[in-house]
Amino acid sequence: MDIYGILAHPANYSMSPIVHNAGFQALNLTARYERFDIPPDKIDLFFEKVKEKRVGLSVSMPYKEEVAKYCGEVSIAAKKIRAVNSLYWRNGKLIGHNTDVIGIKKPLLEKIDLEGKHVVVLGAGGAARAAVYAAEISGSKVTVLNRNIEKAKELAKEFGCFYGSLEDYDKETADVVIQATSVGMMNDESLFTEKNFHPGQIVFDIIYRPLKTKFLEYAEKAGADIITGDKMFLVQAFEQFKIFTGKDAPQEVMKKAFYAALEKDEEMYE
Ligand code: ATR
Repeated sequence: MDIYGILAHPANYSMSPIVHNAGFQALNLTARYERFDIPPDKIDLFFEKVKEKRVGLSVSMPYKEEVAKYCGEVSIAAKKIRAVNSLYWRNGKLIGHNTDVIGIKKPLLEKIDLEGKHVVVLGAGGAARAAVYAAEISGSKVTVLNRNIEKAKELAKEFGCFYGSLEDYDKETADVVIQATSVGMMNDESLFTEKNFHPGQIVFDIIYRPLKTKFLEYAEKAGADIITGDKMFLVQAFEQFKIFTGKDAPQEVMKKAFYAALEKDEEMYE
């Protein structure tokens, strides 16, 4: 039996067990995916078990940075973003990777060729780093805007992009906007309103609870083309599934499990 799981603290919010287990079942794999809610003082001990049993992991808060130290190898993307969200075994080595990059890049590329486009990333945390990297490797010009401008400046220095405060946002020059702050998560707050968007713009919110954030509601009203955060979650999960099992993810089955769970979850906090 191959063992996988989500490593987080807390881990009860994660949709990953539902989605991956649905995939394992659909392909009749002798594998299971668990929730590993590990407090910080038990993490060393946990990794001893991971090594002994060759467990593959998705990684979430607060461990995305820390787990690199347990890896035999870390991918270029994960190094650049300074965050590992996937851990898997290859030739006896634990490899750290980040599938959030493809989770952001792929849904965008389905809508627009990013080459030469101006992408504005809102936020300067871990999610924003993945967004900036995804946009840069796709050939776009990137500006990162954050409430705390010092953090935006630091990120911009590292990635060689432009930066500013949220007030510096200019809708006319932004072809794509990626909302990568935590504003709007499980509530109806929004950094921008309808007047901040224009038709033809691509607007991506990485939050998927709720499925359509207030931010995206405003963008849609203004005529922008929106991408909801579930796309990012699903694409990164499909990629993880492939890395874990070596098989193409049964996407429809996994999607169905995800939306059913999300619906239940939304009823819970409404
Ligand atoms: P993650 O790793 O999920 O990106 P994070 O590192 O805590 O999480 O980053 C959260 C981001 O949301 C930051 O960019 C934060 O802005 P600050 O650096 O100024 O704190 C942003 N954020 C959170 N609450 C915000 C708010 N009310 N208004 C504007 N930005 C906010």
